[in-house]
Amino acid sequence: MNSVSEPNPPVTMPQCKSLHRLSGQIALVTGANSGIGRAVALSLAREGAAVGINYLGGRDAAMAVVDEITQFGGQALAIGADVSDERQVEGMFSQMLKTFGTVDILINNAGLQQDAAFDQMSLAQWQRVIDVNLTGQFLCARAAIREFKQRGVRPDISCAAGKIIGISSVHEVIPWAGHVNYAASKGGVMMMTKSIAQEVAPYRIRVNSICPGAIRTPINRAAWETEAAYDQLMTLIPYRRIGEPEDIGRAAVWMASDESDYINGISLFVDGGMTLYPGFAEGG
Ligand code: BGC
Repeated sequence: MNSVSEPNPPVTMPQCKSLHRLSGQIALVTGANSGIGRAVALSLAREGAAVGINYLGGRDAAMAVVDEITQFGGQALAIGADVSDERQVEGMFSQMLKTFGTVDILINNAGLQQDAAFDQMSLAQWQRVIDVNLTGQFLCARAAIREFKQRGVRPDISCAAGKIIGISSVHEVIPWAGHVNYAASKGGVMMMTKSIAQEVAPYRIRVNSICPGAIRTPINRAAWETEAAYDQLMTLIPYRRIGEPEDIGRAAVWMASDESDYINGISLFVDGGMTLYPGFAEGG
């Protein structure tokens, strides 16, 4: 037993890590120049990760995220690439490896909507949404897993060899009239995520999804910018507030950190209860 005069034992590494939960880790966030991607990139950087800020056609906004991170003492790099293009994805990962040495965390966030009534939906609208939201996640996840597998676990950095977090949506389970391409892409993300997780778990690679509900970003501006629209939106959210990008940022930090080390292949709904069938709060 320690005598009372003995100093406290030195703080061990796992205890230190809670101060900066992602210290020494390298993250790549796709579509990080705005909305959820931007908030996730900032949150990861605040927890000590060096972050690749991927963008497509939003260079100034991406540079602003890089500046914000460097101003608080973090490390970031802007990388332009279309996630649906195999060659550009390979180039983006090469740039990450060249600059930071490896990648520990991939946030597969880049996504878009191209809405149309089903009988009006063009093949181009269908294809672009599937290409970015689903094939984009496939290409980036494949590149990340190649790196995780060949590098293996770095025990002083993380319990896992790598973490992939797909930003999915409540619409991986809630059907969405007028948005069939989008809902189909997110349903695909769900089964892709779980199947990859099952395949690579033995390599100590974790693959999970975060499923945001209505988050205040440009993608759904029409759903929150007027009072009438906001009130209408609240009928779908039992918790009676819109989500903020930081709600997803906090969930992503936890999902990427060793605090969630035993979690693999799940869909984490961050939605204020949108998936609770709010129409059934009364009746049924
Ligand atoms: C969509 C948003 C929508 C939210 C809830 C998200 O995945 O991108 O436009 O507001 O789901 O319906």
